[in-house]
Parts: sequence; structure tokens; C-alpha cells
Amino acid sequence: MRMYDIIMKKRNGGELSSEEIQFFIDGYTRGEIPDYQVSALMMAVYFQKMTEAETLALTMAMADSGDRLDLSQIHRIKVDKHSTGGVGDKTSLALAPMVAACGIPVAKMSGRGLGHTGGTIDKLESFPGFSTALTTQQFIENVNRIGIAIMGQTADLAPADKKLYALRDVTATVDNMSLIASSIMSKKLAAGADAIVLDVKTGSGAFMKKESDARALAEEMVKIGKNAGRKTMAVISDMDQPLGYAVGNALEVKEAIETLKGRGPADFLELCLSLGSQMLIAAGKAGNDSQAGKMLEAVISDGSALEKMAEFVEAQGGSREAVYHPELLPKAHIVRPVLAAVSGYIDHIVCDEVGICSLLLGGGRETKESGIDLSVGLVLCKKAGDYVREGEALAMLHANDEGKAEAAEKRYLAACSITDMPPEKTPFIKAVIV
Ligand code: URA
Repeated sequence: MRMYDIIMKKRNGGELSSEEIQFFIDGYTRGEIPDYQVSALMMAVYFQKMTEAETLALTMAMADSGDRLDLSQIHRIKVDKHSTGGVGDKTSLALAPMVAACGIPVAKMSGRGLGHTGGTIDKLESFPGFSTALTTQQFIENVNRIGIAIMGQTADLAPADKKLYALRDVTATVDNMSLIASSIMSKKLAAGADAIVLDVKTGSGAFMKKESDARALAEEMVKIGKNAGRKTMAVISDMDQPLGYAVGNALEVKEAIETLKGRGPADFLELCLSLGSQMLIAAGKAGNDSQAGKMLEAVISDGSALEKMAEFVEAQGGSREAVYHPELLPKAHIVRPVLAAVSGYIDHIVCDEVGICSLLLGGGRETKESGIDLSVGLVLCKKAGDYVREGEALAMLHANDEGKAEAAEKRYLAACSITDMPPEKTPFIKAVIV
């Protein structure tokens, strides 16, 4: 087999066989096929697209390119959840304890991530002492003992995807549906769970800005998961404004804790209940949404989800006290409002701009090497559709530097549009794909 022939076949609109896909993934992972040939193939795929069979073959080849996590020592159905990412996305922090408190093991690998705030791991590190550097054995033991563990992604999970994603990033070939779906699903399949629930976002703060694209991606990933023999479902939700009110690492942890105490924002709670229901149904714990929703609400009202979070944080070296006393989490020195210049309804908050405000305050990473300030960020006071009076706070900035706070304030004001009429309400959950 020659890489040249594979590139030409795809360039001319042909369908690659699984052997051809396996050949290029193996060769690329081993460093035997150069970047320039794989770049050419990615560009051909970008224009010619991939069939369902090709997409599945690519996913499986990438999932098998490194280690697969063996979770067979966990003798119950393990459910994983993956988010396509957004602003204020603290979902795993509340959802994992909720689902675990219902008796379903959550064995999750998470990342740090570049961007406006850290990833789940950074957020969890707001708990003094918390570590995600678990061995696979510790990870499995924690899941068996308390029903929940979150570890950092091992270097050897789907290494082909790691290389290919980095190459696509610099060759303008990221935004192809089959390539995105296979990239995400290869990592999820290698991470070993029996069922996968996908949290797909749409709107100005999401990877998929258009709802139709989010739906197409969700459908493609659900198809791959099912074809690979895993129960897979997706929930599509709005990311046209931040999720909940808090954006920033420790601030988001506080909001997740409040949610587990029954005082969470409505949209965030709705998302946790929707995803959690899919997880309980996938694990065979509940027969339908309404049954699952009641179970999830019960573990919030009886305090067991909050206690599950405390057990989980303690098991990974963190302070359980901070779960019950979130004032112990990192705090910024400066807390000041962003004031509305006029009265009216909040028409729109450009979501990715809010993410940039958090980044400007130091809450995210611009490069892999950058440090991150866990204490900073924003807490929105008004969201789309709310009425605000001139001089009232639109949001509270949490900062450690006056200059950064000023830059974030300007940016936030520009991201918020205020009008005389309330905007049209759109549903928060757009669709559930099973
Ligand atoms: N996230 C991924 O993991 N892969 C992609 O290709 C795009 C987003």
C-alpha cells in the first residue's frame, strides 16, 4: 500500500477501505508517513467528505493507536460524559456526584484545556490538595469504593488523534464533521466506558455556532458510538450565553456546589438533569426521563449528591471541608461591578466574548505553558431577557489586577446589548438524540 495512492483515491472522491485507513493511521502514529502527506489527505477529506463506514474505521483505528483503558474491574455499567465545551461549563463538577449518588459509577478522564477558563481538572484543583494524577489502579479503586473518580488524560490514549488534531489545527482542516466526530469519539472509546452521553453545545460560545451543525455532529457521534457497540446519546443545549452565572475556575466550583445544595441556576440544573437522566437510563437505573429526573432531584434534596462530592474530593487528596464551606476556595482580591450605561432588556451577551473577559483576568491559558489564576472570573448578574436599570450591575468581576479588571470591563460592556423590547425566548435544551 502507498500513501500516495490513498491520497489520490480520496482526492478523486473514492471511498477508502478500512485497511487503507488503518495503514495511514498506523504509519502516521509511528512517524513513517510524513506530515505533508497526511495534510494532503486531510484536505482531500475536507472537500470530498467521508462515508459512515470510513468515519467508523478512522475512529476505531485512532482509538486503537495507543492504550485503551481497561475498566473491566469495575463490575457495573460505567457511563462517561463528554462536552464539546463552552463558557461557564462546569457540568461535570455537579453531574458526576449526582449520578454517582444515584448508584451509577462515573469513571471520567478530563483535560486541562486551553481557552477562557481551565478544563475540569483545573477547576477541581481549586480544592486545596486535589490531584487528578491517579494511577489506573487508584482510579479503578476509587470508582469501586465511592462510585466516582476523575483523572487526567494519559499521554498514550489515542495518540494518533493527538497528532492528527494538532496537524489539522495548523492546516485549516479542523471543521469537517467526520474528522471532529471521529476525533472526539476515538478518545471516548479508548477511555473504556460502556455508555457515552454527549453534551453538545450550540451558539456563539460553542464550537458549533449553528444549531444545524451541532445536530449533525451529535448525530454523527451517536452513530459512531452505536456502531462501535456502546450505548450513545447526545443532548444539544444552548451556549449562546454562558451556562449558569459563574465563569472562572473557583467561581464555577462554587456554583456547582450551590447547585448540589439545591440553589443552582435554572439552565445549569436543567442541563444536569437532562444529561443525568440519559446517564441513568443508559445504565439501566431508570426507565424514562421522569423517573430519572426524580432520582436526581432526590439526591440533591437529601444532600447525598453534595456528600458524594465531598467523598470524591477527599479521595483525591482535596479538602472535603471546602465542599461544605466554599468560602475556603481561592478568592480574588478585587470584586467590582460592571454597571449598565442604560436601562432596558438584555438582548444578547456575546458568549465567547465573556470567555475572553475571563481569559483577560487570568482565568484561562493562552498557551499550554501559561499559568492560570483559579480565583478570578466573572459572575453575571443579568442574563438574556432580564431587565436592567441604568447604573445597576450587569456582572461582578473577580480580579487580582486593576488593569486586567478594566480591560475585562470594557470588553464585557461591548459584549452586552441592551434594547427596549425583551428578546424572543428560545428553548435551552434543543434536542436529545438517542
Ligand atoms: N475536539 C476534539 O477533540 N477534536 C476535534 O477535532 C474538534 C474538537
